[in-house]
Amino acid sequence: MSNLSTISHYLEQDHQHCDDLYMQAEEHIAETRLAQGAAAFQRFMLAFELHLAREEHLLFPELEKHLGSQGGPTVVMRNEHEQMRAILRQMLGAIERSDIDSFFDYADHLRMLMAQHNLKEENVLYPMADRMLGAASSAMLEQLSQTSAAIAQGVAA
Ligand SMILES: [Fe+2]
Repeated sequence: MSNLSTISHYLEQDHQHCDDLYMQAEEHIAETRLAQGAAAFQRFMLAFELHLAREEHLLFPELEKHLGSQGGPTVVMRNEHEQMRAILRQMLGAIERSDIDSFFDYADHLRMLMAQHNLKEENVLYPMADRMLGAASSAMLEQLSQTSAAIAQGVAA
């Protein structure tokens, strides 16, 4: 299996894509371009929710068949997803109130959480997924990319 076709590679690219969109939103807001910032933040949130959905609905359930769902690493990751979603809701509220100071207070917290969370996934969980799924990895990769549209519609609905 080439490196390009691993679950690790695919989901790391997805992290990078989300980080890029997030930084665009922060830049607009730092420069007080709030309308553009709000639009960019919505684009980031959609991409991020898609990423979380790929993990929560496709990858984690598959890993939980091997790990069991009680107290395993996927439980920790799901909890961290909820923490990040809660901060994102606060950040969206801050943008809507044009409260840039409060946005950046939340942003400091989010960046730290997101960096730690992504590193755990990239260093531990994704490599574990590649090992555990073995020959089933290519089917998982196919699902991760093919179901994006369906999940996106669900998120937007
Ligand atoms: Fe995650």
